[in-house]
Amino acid sequence: MPQAFIFDLDGVITDTAELHYQAWKRLADSLEITIDRDFNEKLKGIGRMESLEKILALAPDQQNLSQELKDALATKKNDHYVDLLKMINEEDILPGIKALLMRIRKEGIHVGLASASKNAKYVLSELGLIDQFDYIVDAAQVSKGKPDPETFTRAADYFGVDYNQCIGIEDAPSGVLAVNGAGMFSVAVGSAEALGHAHYRVDQTSQLDFDTIIEAYSVE
Ligand code: G6P
Ligand code: MG
Repeated sequence: MPQAFIFDLDGVITDTAELHYQAWKRLADSLEITIDRDFNEKLKGIGRMESLEKILALAPDQQNLSQELKDALATKKNDHYVDLLKMINEEDILPGIKALLMRIRKEGIHVGLASASKNAKYVLSELGLIDQFDYIVDAAQVSKGKPDPETFTRAADYFGVDYNQCIGIEDAPSGVLAVNGAGMFSVAVGSAEALGHAHYRVDQTSQLDFDTIIEAYSVE
């Protein structure tokens, strides 16, 4: 049996990826930069400042901005995002997640969160899930974001368990790299095209079944 399940938040627990996209789009529009949902795939699992840099890189006239201005733009995006977050509630938990969390806890296995978002705790509270997590690692606690393994290893270190006894669940290519880099068993939610490097993969969260995951983990 694994000792810990460590979950990514955005795109695994709830579909905030769409809200991040809407907030970035609003900011990009104001700068006359065009982004679409395809481009947004590249921002999944990537920190706020790094995402801003990727967007600004699309516009030749937005190079060499001062750090102060970049900070202001990132804050503006976050204000849009936090506005959108006010609308989420328990009904926005992705299918199958609540049942999976309950089963893991029933088995006495640690449950951790490893998120690149500084809004992670707020999102979990809005979803009514904060009590389901024994430990939460967010962007504020790590020096290197995903794909570096630190976000995941921090949670495992807190629990005092070996990395190869942990299962990390992710929806982003950079997140799967972080889980694999930590020496953990990676479970991915999403397309085979983007997430072929995961140890085990499903298309949707509703297919995340505890026993099937344990079986895959055991044969690895
Ligand atoms: C997650 C999301 C990213 C987001 C990042 C930072 O990894 O997948 O799209 O940019 O968190 O989120 P934050 O809420 O701190 O801006
Ligand atoms: Mg994610």
